[in-house]
Amino acid sequence: MMRVFWCVSLVLSLGIAYYIYIPLPETVGEPWKLMLLDATIRSMFSVGSVVHALGLCHPIKFIRGSVKTLQNLSPVPSGGPKVHDTTFAGVDVRVYESSGVEQGKLKRGLIFLHGGGWALGSNKERSYDLLCRKMSEELKAVVVSVEYRLVPDVYFPVQYEDCLVATTHFLRPEVLALYSVDPAHVGISGDSAGGNLAAAVAQQVAVDESISVKLSAQALIYPVLQGVDFNTPSYMQNEKVPILYRRGMIQFWLQYLKADQSLVHQLLVNNHTAKDQEAVSKHRAKFDWTTLLSLEFHKKYKPVIPAKGTPNILEKLPALLDVRASPLLAEDEVLRRTPRAFILTCEHDVLRDDGLMYARRLQKVGVAVTSDLHADGFHGILSFFQPPTSFESGQRAVKNLISWLNDNL
Ligand SMILES: *[C@@H]1O[C@H](CO)[C@@H](O)[C@H](O)[C@H]1NC(C)=O
Repeated sequence: MMRVFWCVSLVLSLGIAYYIYIPLPETVGEPWKLMLLDATIRSMFSVGSVVHALGLCHPIKFIRGSVKTLQNLSPVPSGGPKVHDTTFAGVDVRVYESSGVEQGKLKRGLIFLHGGGWALGSNKERSYDLLCRKMSEELKAVVVSVEYRLVPDVYFPVQYEDCLVATTHFLRPEVLALYSVDPAHVGISGDSAGGNLAAAVAQQVAVDESISVKLSAQALIYPVLQGVDFNTPSYMQNEKVPILYRRGMIQFWLQYLKADQSLVHQLLVNNHTAKDQEAVSKHRAKFDWTTLLSLEFHKKYKPVIPAKGTPNILEKLPALLDVRASPLLAEDEVLRRTPRAFILTCEHDVLRDDGLMYARRLQKVGVAVTSDLHADGFHGILSFFQPPTSFESGQRAVKNLISWLNDNL
């Protein structure tokens, strides 16, 4: 009997170890913790597919529920800012009002847009809620965290429009006055897909003459900035590094654009931006990593620009050339008008080069940029600064973000 028990235990442990173990780059921080995190996320996706196959619920909704359960293990500190949920011109927002400001003194303002591939995440998710509380307290700011609608309820450009509507509403002088916010000190920030939305909204606010109060800072955390090259050195180098896989990022893009998931094969080989895709020619210099990345980031990679692509593929994906989806494709004249920027990137992230290229383009037109690259970081660290899922890189990312905002907002 005992022998059977030990045999079963051994097989089970080996099975679990095999499931958890994935080869990781040597320089990534706290690799075992990352493997556990990755295995947890992978199992959520697997169970999500089973639940979906059984007809029980949409896989995205299942994953959202699981993330929420996991995140609620982090406690909410007592005290802190005054928090309330409301709507800004019809868009749900959560407002954090710092408690530590003298009567009559104006506060800073900050719009925050959470990440999650335009499909996951929520302003109520514990890690985002804790981050916004912390930013509000430490920056003596009013933080507005936007609950824009998500896939599969809405698709591009609704996520962007929700964020723009909420931001424009907050920037109205009478609304800022209501919250005692100084119009000269309002910024925008977001991570991942939220960084994509923040960059796109910052561009639109900068050029829209009907918006009188302008943003004074943008803090983009490993932002998604382009859907035109899925073969940048960082996409290639980090193809299989958790928690964002190269194929997964392309799948998020296709979902956001309500396109057929089978296009993933064409996008993986850059068929949508092949030389024969005429609509792309006028944009090429704006995402040419061979000129926008410094040599150390070329690593061993060569640009992938096939001579012939899939015919008419961009007709199915016009948004990939739209600045509201791919803010890296904005013209210099637009970029020049955007506010000073903090761009956080991680070495072990498919999106590293999106951020580095944007930083370069902004610098070239004279925008002040702080580029903060985390050599041990992976995609998602900003959400991992609190137990039970805390990483050193995550704590450092939060610290650097707040310290930059403190000096620049
Ligand atoms: C990319 O386009 C070429 C030329 O049309 C085609 O032969 C090839 O099959 C396409 N690749 C994929 C993965 O669809």
